[in-house]
Parts: sequence; structure tokens; C-alpha cells
Amino acid sequence: MIPGMPGDSQVYLNGEFTRADQAKISVLDRGFIFGDGIYEVVPVYNGKPFRMTEHLDRLDRSLKALSIAQPMARAEWVELIGELARRSATATCIVYLQVTRGVYKRDHAFPKEAIRPTVFGMATVFNPPSAAQREQGVSLISIPDERWLHCEIKSVSLLGNVLARQQAVEAGADEVAQFRDGFLTEGSSSNIWVVSGGKLLAPPKNNLILEGIRYGLMGELAAEAGIAFEARRLSREEVAAADELLVTSATKEVLPATSYDGKPVGNGKPGPVYARLRAGYDARIAAL
Ligand code: PDD
Repeated sequence: MIPGMPGDSQVYLNGEFTRADQAKISVLDRGFIFGDGIYEVVPVYNGKPFRMTEHLDRLDRSLKALSIAQPMARAEWVELIGELARRSATATCIVYLQVTRGVYKRDHAFPKEAIRPTVFGMATVFNPPSAAQREQGVSLISIPDERWLHCEIKSVSLLGNVLARQQAVEAGADEVAQFRDGFLTEGSSSNIWVVSGGKLLAPPKNNLILEGIRYGLMGELAAEAGIAFEARRLSREEVAAADELLVTSATKEVLPATSYDGKPVGNGKPGPVYARLRAGYDARIAAL
């Protein structure tokens, strides 16, 4: 049994489906030894993957950035996501995909000979945000961003993100808003958005943040709703003075942050820009 996982969960590992508690990787897998690998988190609603092409495009970019060989054709990834969703206990689930550089004697440098990347996939329970979270919003605390300078790669080297999230937990908050050199970057596992004067603002896409699949989607939803959107650096002061703050990720979808460093954001209630973007997001799920 794996603590926290249903006993009969099925996972995919290097071409085979097995019970999660029976799947084994090598102790010398570079993902285990060095965190040398990448991942994706694809939300699936009622058996239908959401923004799958965009997720698989980002998986390609992450592999390229780390010079890890693409282990499967696009059609095989699509098939794998479908199969994991079909085997999932619930039709609405999260499909997690991970590729590591593979197994080799421990050496920081890339192996000199071609090795087979390790491919892992699983479907886990997905409880989309509750009515209470949508209506009351979530809480954020600001912390310094202490991560490395390639946050654009969706790497499994997540210690900085793990420590950031733990700070939120210990402060009784839901998520962090990280700042580097006085400017907003992102959450521990989400992108953060500022609404000011009716305009949607986000940090620019660069090496300091992961370009969430919802980053592009929010741009589309804002355009559809006639909400102006601008990507630019956002100072601590601007974030603290925001009319609204929003959080997006595959699992959080889009949620309002109504508390920031212990103080209410705006009037402490989800705002009108959130409501319009949320409606757009819900419509996209309904149209799947
Ligand atoms: N995390 N920034 C970071 C650091 C993230 O880890 C994530 C997602 C995002 C939002 O990306 P997207 O919209 O593609 O979910 C931004 C996933 C959910 C995770 O690690 O579980």
C-alpha cells in the first residue's frame, strides 16, 4: 500500500500498467538521484482532457530544454493520457506524466551513451475547487523566491517549490506569492494574477516563472470578456494594493485570493473580474 493512494490504483511505467504499490524504478534512476526529469499535470473532466495539446507542447519544450530524448510520439502520449483516464477510479481525474533522463551510474554529467528515458504516468483523484473556495477565495502569503533561474522548465527538481508551499501551510495559508528582487514571480505550484483598475496583470513570461497552461487561457478568456490584459513586472506595492488577486493552476483552475498577508484583498470578497474569468473557464470545461 502507498499511504494516501487507493490500494488498487494503476500506474504506467515504461510501457506497462501495474498496481501503484508494485511499480518499481531503479535506485539509480536520474530522476531519483538528481531530480533530472520533467513532468506534466493534465486535468481530465468526465474522461475528457483539458488543454491536452498545450500540455503536450509544454512537455516537449521541457524535454528539449534538458536535452532528454522524446520517448514517445505525440499519438502515443494522447493514447496514454486516454488510457490512464479510462483506468482511473473517477472520470474526473488528474493525469500526471513524468519523464526522467533514465538509469545510469551516478555521474552529474549526462550519460555518454544513449539511455532510455523512464516514462511514468498515473491518474489521481481530482476534486475541482469547492463552492466554498470559489465563494470565499483562498489566502496567500508573500515570501522571497529562493528557487533557481530556470523556473520556465517544468522540472521534477521541486525542492524550492516544496519548501515554499510548506511555508504557506505553516502560516495557515493556502498558497504563497513569491517575490524576486521586489517583483512578483508566482506561487509554489500556481500562477498569480493582479487586477488593478479593471485590468488583468501578470508577470511577464520569462525564466522566472512557469508558463502555466492557464497563462495562455486567461489571456483568451480576458479577451473574450473584454478585459484588458498586460504582462509586466509587478512590484510588492502593486500586489499589496491590488483590487483582486487570482490564482491559476491545473488543479486550482482559477480561484480568487481574498486574503493577502493576513489582510483582505479589496473588500475581502471575490471580485467582478474573477467572476467573469471564472464563468469563461467554466464554459470551456462545459464545452469539452
Ligand atoms: N503546478 N507555476 C508553477 C510553479 C506550477 O507548478 C504550476 C502548476 C503552475 C501553473 O501551471 P498550469 O496552469 O499549467 O497548471 C505555475 C502543477 C499543477 C503541479 O505541480 O501540481
